[in-house]
Amino acid sequence: MKRDVKKIISQMTLEEKAGMCSGEDFWHLKSVERLGIPAVMVSDGPHGLRKQDQEADHLGQNESIKAVCFPTACATACSFDRELLQTLGETLGEECQAQDVSVILGPAVNIKRSPLCGRNFEYFSEDPYLASEMAAAHIKGVQSKNIGTSIKHFAANNQEYRRMSCSSEMDERTFREIYLGAFETAIKEGKPDTVMCSYNQINGEFASENHKLLTEILRDEWGFEGYVMSDWGAVNERVKGLAAGLDLEMPGSGGYTDKEIVEAVKNGTLDEQVLDTAVERILNIIFKYTDNRQPGRFDLAEDHKLAVRIAEESMVLLKNDGILPLKTEGQKIAFIGKFAKNPRFQGGGSSHINSFKVESALDAVKEYTEVTYAQGYDVKEDKIEEAMLKEAVETAKAADVAVIFAGLPDAFESEGYDREHMAMPNCQNILIEDILKVQPNVVVVLHNGSPVEMPWADQVKGILEAYLCGQGAGAAEAAILFGKVNPSGKLAETIPYKLSDNPSYLNFPGNGKTVEYKEGVFVGYRYYDTKEMPVRYPFGYGLSYTTFAYSDLQLSAKEIKDTDKLTVSLKVKNTGAVAGKEVVELYVADHTGAAFRPVKELKNFVKVELHPGEEKTVSMELNKRSFAWYNEEIHDWYAASGTYEILVGSSSRDIRLKEHVTVLSTTKIPMQIHMNTTISELLAEPKAKAVISDLVDKMMVNMGGGAEEGTAASEAITPEMTLKMMENSPLRSLRSFAGLSTEEVQSLIEKIQETVNE
Ligand code: BGC
Repeated sequence: MKRDVKKIISQMTLEEKAGMCSGEDFWHLKSVERLGIPAVMVSDGPHGLRKQDQEADHLGQNESIKAVCFPTACATACSFDRELLQTLGETLGEECQAQDVSVILGPAVNIKRSPLCGRNFEYFSEDPYLASEMAAAHIKGVQSKNIGTSIKHFAANNQEYRRMSCSSEMDERTFREIYLGAFETAIKEGKPDTVMCSYNQINGEFASENHKLLTEILRDEWGFEGYVMSDWGAVNERVKGLAAGLDLEMPGSGGYTDKEIVEAVKNGTLDEQVLDTAVERILNIIFKYTDNRQPGRFDLAEDHKLAVRIAEESMVLLKNDGILPLKTEGQKIAFIGKFAKNPRFQGGGSSHINSFKVESALDAVKEYTEVTYAQGYDVKEDKIEEAMLKEAVETAKAADVAVIFAGLPDAFESEGYDREHMAMPNCQNILIEDILKVQPNVVVVLHNGSPVEMPWADQVKGILEAYLCGQGAGAAEAAILFGKVNPSGKLAETIPYKLSDNPSYLNFPGNGKTVEYKEGVFVGYRYYDTKEMPVRYPFGYGLSYTTFAYSDLQLSAKEIKDTDKLTVSLKVKNTGAVAGKEVVELYVADHTGAAFRPVKELKNFVKVELHPGEEKTVSMELNKRSFAWYNEEIHDWYAASGTYEILVGSSSRDIRLKEHVTVLSTTKIPMQIHMNTTISELLAEPKAKAVISDLVDKMMVNMGGGAEEGTAASEAITPEMTLKMMENSPLRSLRSFAGLSTEEVQSLIEKIQETVNE
């Protein structure tokens, strides 16, 4: 059915239009029955359906319907599997159709800047490319079922501390490359129906009233056509927000802000057309949903199976000294730790799902073998319970292998506040240490949304990072521990040794008013790898029960223009004894020297499944953006001419194949010559060089570079030294060292400028 939305708007009163721009209650938009506009519902997200009916609240305190909790984003990102994320999205879309929810609030793509952010579990990665690819797939999946998504929290919301008022302060390049980077592809390619703006300010302006963000970048540059909604309570000044591009305020605010909008139109401070446009965007998405209603499918049992499968694909095997997989026979196995019985599989706050069932490792292990169990620690308080500890140590000692299920309790990480440190509860670290004294065969299974320190990592024989892997976590853990499933997840973030290694350490979480992103683009592995800093486990790292060999790297060209595409292909072979999946990572290193950049950046990846002995050719594409950085001089992406290295690896620290490619830029950066332009800048530009080369020679002599060889003067300052010094000199120094007057330098500047402009 083709709706004439403009006509409907023309029939609405000013009050009805203003009313459309804020919620009716916590989860519904308003209806206008006489014009056939229904009250549609939105619900959280992102990793399951949190549909609340009565007694609504946004932090998950009141019960929502029984649903399926899928693995959280910190886990699913480790699958590096776009198809899997799309399948997850399709399933969420079906569930929403069945439950009459028009928009599911997610995915959440904010960058994991510091391990301390309380909400890291809801976010994908420290890398914007990976985060955006995962989000795009999630969005496409949900929206293929005619349910809207709301990518969030737009933008630069990387901490919980003072999240509703604090200003994230950063330069334009950092904002574009890292923090907007996580949204850009997801919005351009995923085309979400809605975007949720964040609570915080960005360089002193609230996201909810930021015209540059919500209109110039989001719509004008990226082509976003849906509506922007506020995070719950993110509106500061309603009318200013509307004019900036914030269409819908959520939740409702008792009609007060609607009245402000009406008043602003009446007194001429708000153009009614701005209001009409916002209403049009909102109605388009409402009708897109209502006109494409489907019965949907909400099969709890079936969707639980998918939750298990996604968990199996997402967990990351960090260490395996031959101890895994465990044996189903002839091995006495002890499961230790509260999380074996009650896994921590999701985080607290607005994304909290009311799981209809939770499969623990202790339940799931029955399919494989019998195990002994001891609780070991409590999660309510970080306190050593002597009796519990003793029982656990004895249980571990009596077995051949002890698997310790550990991690962060709920109170350690949640929406609404940040973590205070990177350590696990002391009682759990002590438990692991005490067990290691009596049992050499220890495997640790971790449940956490963000990195933890692992002081025992060198002593244990195996570590499985399960993250917060949804209600099927236990089943997936058992399947991996016993080798029914071959692990294939790779870390979507670096695990540093300690918190102070993290690049944001000195500037997180700021002073309460502002938080300065002083590390710039050097976030996560971009920092650790450039600094050549040892880390516990690098970005992109993860083990398998088989091994893979990489060979035969081919580039589709040796030289390309920045407007061309480059295809990178290689062969991957399973060289082990079991079938497995490998994530092949493609990084680009800029060797042009045009800007200070991280030593490598992820620009593509592919996940490939291989039987033992099987070999496949995989290929990945690169484009201008893969080589470019955000150039603040031209306020645009720029790939400088020169050499780039193509690096293919199994992690950011395990590069297996390398090649070079030359890129020729088609963008001309206008050169502005002035008194303080340096000689080296001019020598780098051939046309300018031709104009000044005689003068440069003269300056060389005058600066002492012309001394006769063998003399004391020539030893004091060699021609090489003079050249280096001179290169750093600005044009104005031609007055001091080449005998030019100010007027002569000025006319020289004009001449060079004319020549380079030609
Ligand atoms: C969160 C959002 C969430 C909303 C609705 C807010 O507190 O930041 O992510 O979608 O509440 O529950």
